[in-house]
This record gives sequence, C-alpha cells and structure tokens, in this order.
Amino acid sequence: MSILRAEQLQKTFATGSAARSGVAAVRGIDLEIDAGQFVAITGASGSGKSTLLHMLGGITRPTAGRVLLEGIDLAGLDDDALAVVRRRRIGFVFQRYNLLPELSLVENVALPLVLDGVADLRCRDAAAAALAAVGMEHRASHRPDELSGGEQQRGAIARALVTRPAIVLADEPTGALDSDNSRRVVELLAELVAERGQTVVLVTHDAGVAAGASRTIRISDGLVASDSARSAAVPVPTR
Ligand SMILES: Nc1ncnc2c1ncn2[C@@H]1O[C@H](COP(=O)(O)OP(=O)(O)OP(=O)(O)O)[C@@H](O)[C@H]1O
Ligand SMILES: [Mg+2]
Repeated sequence: MSILRAEQLQKTFATGSAARSGVAAVRGIDLEIDAGQFVAITGASGSGKSTLLHMLGGITRPTAGRVLLEGIDLAGLDDDALAVVRRRRIGFVFQRYNLLPELSLVENVALPLVLDGVADLRCRDAAAAALAAVGMEHRASHRPDELSGGEQQRGAIARALVTRPAIVLADEPTGALDSDNSRRVVELLAELVAERGQTVVLVTHDAGVAAGASRTIRISDGLVASDSARSAAVPVPTR
C-alpha cells in the first residue's frame, strides 16, 4: 500500500482582486508514494511545489481532490485530529523554517514531543540528538534570531526529524546551506530511508540534491510534467 496518495489534487487561491478568478496553483495531481521511497520534487519557481507539499502534509486543505495518508483521507479529519496526525506521522520542513522566535533552538526542536506529552528528559535527549545529527548542538540555547539562515534551516530539519516520523516532507531543505552542509543533509535523509525505512519527499532546485533521491517528480504549472518512477514503465507510442 502507498503511504501517501494524492487523487486529482487541486488548489486554487482566491486573490485580492475581484477582477481575477484566483490562482490555480495545483491543477489536478495524482501521485502515489510508497513507504521507504526517497522522492525529489523539482520544478520552476511558482510551479506549485510548496502548495503540493503543504496539501500532502495536511497543512493546506485542497480545493478539490483528496490526500490519503497511510490510507486515511485527510479531508475526513477535523483540525484537531489533523494536528495530531501531522505531529505524530509527519515531519515537515518549511521553506521559511517557521521556528518560533521566543523559544531557544533546542526548545523549538523538542516542541513536537512536548506537545505530545513526552517526558521532559526524553524530549531534551531526543532534541539534542536531532540537533547533533544536523551539526547544530553548539547552538542549542540560542534563539532563532541569533542564528544564520542556514543554521535556522538545519534547526528546522532537526525539528522535523525529532519524532522519527514515518514521512518527512521537506521544502527546499538545503536552500540556505553551503555545499558541505547540503551534502550532509541529503546523506542524513538518505540514511533515514535506508536504515529506518522512513519515507522522504523533498522539494529542491538543486540537481545535485535531487540526484540523491531514488525518484524525481517534475512539476510544471501545477501538474506533474514527468515522474521518473512512472516514465520507466510507460512505453513510448510508436507511429
Ligand atoms: N497563499 C497564496 N495566495 C495566493 N496565491 C498563492 C498563495 N500561495 C501560493 N500562491 C501562488 O500559487 C503558485 C504556486 O506557488 P508555490 O508556492 O506552490 O510555488 P513553488 O513551486 O513552491 O515556488 P518556489 O520554487 O518559488 O518556492 C504561485 O503562482 C503563487 O504565487
Ligand atoms: Mg516553494
């Protein structure tokens, strides 16, 4: 069974101007992602990658179509139930990090566990381990505004991994990183897939990062333009 499935997924944003009919960011995407896959999503700026990822992660509700996560239709969950699924099953790395400014880095990273009622000591240990995995343990007590962009990004990755979620959805997780740190993050994600059987879907503009994945889906204008998993199986029609 696929761990994540999109069926005719669409998202249209209402825009400020009444003269326009809205922005069709995602226009009908079907997708099936198996447990243990490492998937890269690529495509031009504005093609709908973040919008797609947000819908897959239950952060944005689709205008039409549906998302099945481990067989559960996310549309059938109210906001509270959706929050629990997101916290326990999904690790999401936001393109803009979304660290809470008033918390220290280690508190940010521990937050998903704290919200789930996990004992203090275990939260601290798990957060410290997640920070160490991205090379950020030396900044644990700093607040986000005391960190560089790349450091915040690595903190956001640690927060997404701290619960060891079945699914990691990462939006440009290496966008602010130098090549060494970028390679480290890709290796870390590949390890989660290979050693723990976690599923990783990342959005990237970096061909080197995409090359680390086992499947690449290219989005163009809100639709799937190519899918390396699919293209291999579809015979080219002869004329
Ligand atoms: N909240 C919103 N309200 C209105 N339009 C939006 C909103 N979010 C995204 N859009 C529009 O939807 C389209 C897709 O945006 P999205 O953020 O998914 O692109 P992207 O592929 O992630 O781009 P980038 O590579 O620059 O991050 C864009 O045209 C964008 O302007
Ligand atoms: Mg984006």
